[in-house]
Parts: sequence; structure tokens; C-alpha cells
Amino acid sequence: MRCQLAFNGKPLEANIGETLIDAALGGSLLIPQDCRSGQCQSCRVTVVSGSVDDHGTAQGRTVLACQATVSGEAKIEFEELPMPVKRAGIITEINSLSPQILEVVMTTSSPLEFRPGQYVRLKLSGFPAREFSPTCRLDGSRKEGELVFHIRRLPDGLVSRALGETIKPGHAAHVQGPFGNAYLREGNGPLILVSGGAGWAPIWALAHGARTNQRERDLIVIAGSRDAEDLYMRAALDWLVQDGVREVIATSERGASNSVKRGLPTHYLPLLGLEDTVHVAGPIGLVDAIKSKALDAHARCFADPFLASVRTASLADRFMRKWQGLELFGPRER
Ligand code: FES
Repeated sequence: MRCQLAFNGKPLEANIGETLIDAALGGSLLIPQDCRSGQCQSCRVTVVSGSVDDHGTAQGRTVLACQATVSGEAKIEFEELPMPVKRAGIITEINSLSPQILEVVMTTSSPLEFRPGQYVRLKLSGFPAREFSPTCRLDGSRKEGELVFHIRRLPDGLVSRALGETIKPGHAAHVQGPFGNAYLREGNGPLILVSGGAGWAPIWALAHGARTNQRERDLIVIAGSRDAEDLYMRAALDWLVQDGVREVIATSERGASNSVKRGLPTHYLPLLGLEDTVHVAGPIGLVDAIKSKALDAHARCFADPFLASVRTASLADRFMRKWQGLELFGPRER
């Protein structure tokens, strides 16, 4: 049996009993999603009118679109993400932020829209493609048509080793995206942002985005590194303090001082609760530890872990890439 639905105002016909995600796909609409098993909460949508079978996932007027099924006419709304596109451009700056981290700036032929926390696939001419999260400059500035990346120098990294050597300002580049599920969502509850190492790039984009568009939200930012001298983001942390962020914490396992607390970011995580939204980016060990604390507290948690070699694409990303005719992920250099 078929019935009439509307997703974000777009009318379409769906089968009774199919999930809202599948119903939306029938109209070429992608509801943000990840696990498709009711765990990650990425696919929560609002039922504006009519009704659906919520399969036990209702919270107020919202349901999980991967679990809830069509039961009759309904109007559904969800946050749409920018569609992945391709852009050409050139590298315009390569700056050293610390002994380990480079700031690489690409200027694109036309702006590429992305949500804070998403990532793109960057291909420097003559080198394999890698995925990085675009971010702001450490002084909080951003220019239209400019993508700023933080790239860790890896001793055996094909791309990172060439930066500043064979790859210099003027080098041709292509970028595809945005992708990823760990983007800044609408919300009122406290936001807790945690980074390790170059995971600061998406966390800084999220923090800056929250201070720009969600100033009423309580924000806690924790940035960690193994050595205090690798805390390359201090200018950004100062920016957040001056902007009135309640808690801004820098941690390191070695070289702690008055302004840098000794230990891991996990040691300084506040007591989490249902209302909290946590974002974490960095080494897989840190991501797993924070995710597990968030899970225990029933807090929402979003993370795109940066693996040293291979990154696993989320279901949503795989779908988008198939849909767009883009190839699946290759190795990711962080
Ligand atoms: S809860 Fe629906 S995609 Fe994860």
C-alpha cells in the first residue's frame, strides 16, 4: 500500500512499512545517517504533522528515521547537508604551526560549502588523495574560497613529506566534499568538544561555528597533545577564552605548566549527562575512550576517528559517493 509523505516540503509517495530513510531515498533525499541500527541518533527527524510508527524511538515530535516506518500521511523535516561537489584550485600557503603540524591553505575556483566538523578529499596534483577537515585560521579568521587544513608531518607520509619540498604555493589541487557525520547540529544543550593532536582541525571548526551561530550554548573545549610543545592551537584557545567560553582546557602528558594541565583530555571531561552533545577528534584510543564515557552517560557523541592509514566510510558517505559516482575512500593521512 502506498501513501503520500512530504520531506522538507518535497512531496513523494512511499510504501507503508518502509523506513523513513528508505522512503526519503525513493525521492533522492538523503537523511543524515550512520549506523542504521538505532544507536548513533544521527538520523533523528521531526514529524511535523501526520504520524509514523516510531518503533519506540519517539522523543517529543522526533523519531529515528532508520527505525521509524511509514504508517500513513505525514510531513517530515530534517537538517539537509550541503551536497558533495568537486572544486579545482591551488595551494596558496604552507605554514609551520609546530614541529609536527603544517597549516596548508588551498584557494578554490569557487567556494565549497561545508558544515563545521565535516571533511573533504584533497588531491594535490601528482600525489594520492587524502582526507582532511577544513578549519579556520588559528586567529579565528576565514576567507571565502579558502580551505585551511592542518596536516601532520609523517616520516613515511607520501603527501606530508612533500609539503614545502615538491609541493609549494602554486601547486595545483582538487577537492571533493563535504563528507562526514560529525558536523555541528542545531541544539541548545551543552557542547563538549575534545581533540587530540591534529584532531584540533575539526574541533576548532566546531568551536568557532558554535561561537558564531549558537552563542547561547554552554561550551567546553579540551585540546590535548602528548608534548606541551605540540599544543599548536594555543592562539585559538586564547581566542575562545577572550570570546567568553566558560572552560577551555589544554592538556599534555609531558611538559605540563600553569596553563597546560598534566594528563589526557579524558581526565578533564566533565560529568556527562543526557543533555550533552560531545564531539571528539584525534587518535583512535582517545576517540574510543570519550565515546564510551558518552555512551555510559547517554550523551550524544559524534566522531570521525583519524586512523593512520585507512578510514572506514560511513553508510551515508558510501551512499553519497555511489550516488555521485565518486570513488570510495582511499587511505587517509593524518
Ligand atoms: S540511529 Fe539511525 S542511523 Fe544511527
